[in-house]
Amino acid sequence: MVHVARRGDLPARLGPGVQHIPDYGPSRMSRDPYTDPAQFQAERSKVLATHWLIAGRSEQVPGAGDWITYEGHGETVIITRQVDGTLAAFHNVCRHRGPAIVGEMQGCGARRFTCPYHGWVYDTTGKLVGVPERDDFDAGHLVDMRAPAVAAGEWGGWVWINLAGPEKAPALLDSIGPEIVADLGEFHMEDMVLHEVVEWDVPVSYKAVVDGFNEVYHVTQLHHVTPEFTKAARELSFHVLGDNYMAFVPRPEFMEQLEATWDHHRFAICHYVVFPNTVFNCNPGHVQLFTPIPIDVDRTRFKCWELIHPGDRTDPDYAAYYDHTMAHWATLKGVVGEDIAIYEQLQRTKRSSGYTEHILSSRECKIAMYHETMARKING
Ligand code: FES
Ligand SMILES: [Fe+2]
Repeated sequence: MVHVARRGDLPARLGPGVQHIPDYGPSRMSRDPYTDPAQFQAERSKVLATHWLIAGRSEQVPGAGDWITYEGHGETVIITRQVDGTLAAFHNVCRHRGPAIVGEMQGCGARRFTCPYHGWVYDTTGKLVGVPERDDFDAGHLVDMRAPAVAAGEWGGWVWINLAGPEKAPALLDSIGPEIVADLGEFHMEDMVLHEVVEWDVPVSYKAVVDGFNEVYHVTQLHHVTPEFTKAARELSFHVLGDNYMAFVPRPEFMEQLEATWDHHRFAICHYVVFPNTVFNCNPGHVQLFTPIPIDVDRTRFKCWELIHPGDRTDPDYAAYYDHTMAHWATLKGVVGEDIAIYEQLQRTKRSSGYTEHILSSRECKIAMYHETMARKING
């Protein structure tokens, strides 16, 4: 049988005695964070360059010399598995005259990376180890030369990077936070396999995509959920944990079981946001990750990852799990398609003089809080 997540001894996050929504209230905010190029530049240097971002799955780099790249907000990074099993990451930028060292998105078994322009050679940690016709250079210019290092780490079977580099990046688990590590950890993502990644190029800020996961107000109108779901969604809880959030939406078909156990892992949709752009959506037996990767102020590569437990499809129990999971995943892709239709409507208004602000309800306060966190970081 595949692992089914259960709350066990973890704290209840729904039910009596749990504060369901922070004491925040309705608010208004400017539309500028979504469209201001100056703010985007500040986010690039003060947020995207200093926080942990998802680059891929550990299973994409299983062996020494296996590598993947991360591309976003003007950056290109190579992440490689080392002989000792750790990961190293470095900017995919040749120190000679600047082109990307590798053109492909991933590869395996690399021992060296050679720039296609003049043949400078880098090892799998990004250190410069070969320069053709080296004597023609000033030796002092090449001392200890390397492609700038990027921090790399793994948790939950995910590869994370931090552009601040290994010296300055905070500890990955501290950034995710102990509550999310424990609660999300119960899904055992490290034992899952990547079933599919779907990618959309969307014409809005990555923050507009995150907003869509920071409220459930839109599901009735946009996603045509059942009245039972709308009612259950009003019972959701969300919890602010520093820069990050957890949210739990009761699943209406399991209301009785939920109220008997307050086991949110089994009977609620569990949702975790790691600032700034990592969003986990969890069902007891499978998990989606949403990563809206900023490309520019109003352009985003939105990746949607589906993880499932591996198994033998000739085993009837596993086959039932697989079929159920695939049906749910197919529905979810349709739901995301509905969100994307809204991003197209937002594209039409992004330069409109009629669009000036957002008016947020008390149940949309997670959006307000997210943008407050962002403002604090770029103004701090
Ligand atoms: S630009 Fe890379 S070797 Fe010259
Ligand atoms: Fe949605």
